[in-house]
Amino acid sequence: MKKFLIACFFLFSAPLLSHDYQIKDFSYLLGRLDGIDDSVLKMHFTLYQGYVKNTNALAHSLQEMDDQTIAYGALKRRFAWEYDGMVLHELYFENLGGKQGLSSKSLLYQKIAENFGSFEKWRQNFFATGMIRGIGWVILFQDLATGQLYNIWVDEHNINLLAGGRPLLVMDVWEHAYITEYGLNRGGYIEAFYKNIDWGVVNRRFSK
Ligand SMILES: [Fe+2]
Repeated sequence: MKKFLIACFFLFSAPLLSHDYQIKDFSYLLGRLDGIDDSVLKMHFTLYQGYVKNTNALAHSLQEMDDQTIAYGALKRRFAWEYDGMVLHELYFENLGGKQGLSSKSLLYQKIAENFGSFEKWRQNFFATGMIRGIGWVILFQDLATGQLYNIWVDEHNINLLAGGRPLLVMDVWEHAYITEYGLNRGGYIEAFYKNIDWGVVNRRFSK
């Protein structure tokens, strides 16, 4: 009984535990992508690491701050930007490194064709969405309530991201993803991105 009471004391008097996000290693992509250079990838990994560090730093700061202050509100808003920047980069790197297209026999292919009229119409719309002026992300997104698929445009990292669904395929169209290699030719980068999609990963994200 005594041991139990001591354990309870330490359990309930401990500070709130916070979860630190770990930096994921995507270096296995180096030398494997066609049309996206290793130097661009390395720079991109460094930027991604900044999002993980800032997400952790913000989470800790918010935990310690007075939640009645203007500064708290400002940082609370900032949290979604850093957090989504971290997660979207992880989804982006994870869906790269593939060498094969999506099998027309897969359920995902058939669902895309059904939703967009044809797979080719989806592809054209995905590319066109990628050419929207601005910095952000293009995501093939699934509404988990209905199964409906959308190509969505996300401004920065967190604006226009739809609630209640799952990103299936994630493409970074911030300038750092392509400008050192392709200049203003964003279309060239999108073609390269498309060639390197790992459809196996995208398929696993798809909710059947
Ligand atoms: Fe990026």
